[in-house]
Amino acid sequence: MNSCHLITGGAGFIGSCHVLQTRASGTPVVTLDKLTYSGNLANLASLAGDADHVFVQGDIGNSELVAHLLRTHRPSAVINFAAESHVDRSILDPEAFVRTNVLGTTALLRCVLAYWRSLKEEEQRRFRFLHVSTDEVFGSLGPEEPAFTEHTPYAPNSPYAASKAASDHLVRAFHETYGLPVLLTNCSNNYGPRQFPEKLIPLLVRNALDRAPLPIYGTGQNVRDWLHVEDHCAAIARVLEAGTPGRSYNIGGRAERNNLDVARAVCAILDEERPHADGPYADLIRFVTDRPGHDWRYAMNCDRIERELGWRPRHSFDSGLRDTVRWYLNNGDWLEAVQSGAYRQWLETNYAGR
Ligand code: NAD
Ligand code: DAU
Repeated sequence: MNSCHLITGGAGFIGSCHVLQTRASGTPVVTLDKLTYSGNLANLASLAGDADHVFVQGDIGNSELVAHLLRTHRPSAVINFAAESHVDRSILDPEAFVRTNVLGTTALLRCVLAYWRSLKEEEQRRFRFLHVSTDEVFGSLGPEEPAFTEHTPYAPNSPYAASKAASDHLVRAFHETYGLPVLLTNCSNNYGPRQFPEKLIPLLVRNALDRAPLPIYGTGQNVRDWLHVEDHCAAIARVLEAGTPGRSYNIGGRAERNNLDVARAVCAILDEERPHADGPYADLIRFVTDRPGHDWRYAMNCDRIERELGWRPRHSFDSGLRDTVRWYLNNGDWLEAVQSGAYRQWLETNYAGR
């Protein structure tokens, strides 16, 4: 396999989109994924029979396996999407987040460093390790505060954000200490096809179709900046191609919306696409007990990636959201298949007491 990319967490929501885009561009891919509750091989089903895609089930913390994959496939880039990714789960089980996001990333970095050191000079020069991170490491903004830049100090508030911040620092340290050519991306909230329905938008669609309550934490006024997953992956590809090693790049959609407005928008689309005799879907919205430590607002200043690398999002939130809701409506089997007993147990654990 020539000049392939090793993509970790490639069976999850964003990782699978990136694997599909990378294969569409012609680059061979090795996907390493542990297949936790949010990892799903169905996300990569369209690659069945693709000789330039190899899937390996395993943990980024398994150094023997990672070293073997690096030796065997000799990738020119490693892109790390593997993570525990849900804030509410991190509040109930922080250790799982430290295990994968902090210890797993560190083990991965050590293997990648050993591999990079074994490369010839020209291969070393071209190699990149790209770590996919989040806007949540910067903490929370008030309504009028300027958006986060790459220079905003880290101030993570949830165990998830703290674990991502720790991993970002380790990635940076491997550049400063050992010279590993790393790139970091910090992105805002993604939406799109194949997102596990614990996250707000697919959860709203799924509950609405079941005529179940649509839970909105607190007042629903918390603001997130939404970006279509395909735009996020295009930005990552661009950073890989032309980003400066050791730098971080903010990625966002310039689409700030409060959660109540997002819920109402999803309901309005469902009213048009799948009208229900019992009345508008918005009647199902319920305000529930807030998330502890709930960050008020995130917003990204994307001047650096726009100016230096010429990246811009292609999807508008309004049309992207409509396409996304339609995707879930047209892929009822996908949505049904991910709702295992463990998923139902999660809904009980997170929502029963709210
Ligand atoms: P996801 O939960 O859908 O996918 C995570 C994937 O990682 C799953 O396939 C899972 O099986 C795999 N994984 C978990 N632990 C692993 C381990 N120890 N070894 C190997 N694989 C493992 O999450 P996502 O939303 O696709 O997020 C992907 C990355 O993007 C994460 O690092 C997340 O922090 C970051 N991110 C997410 C968003 C967002 O809005 N979802 C925004 C910015 C950044
Ligand atoms: O900002 C980037 C981050 O976006 C990523 O790093 C995380 O991996 C990803 O999960 C996401 O984090 P959020 O906490 O913002 O996403 P979530 O979909 O869980 O929630 C979005 C907003 O909606 C948040 O303000 C909490 C609120 N919410 C969420 C759920 C699940 C509700 O009001 N009700 C809900 O049931």
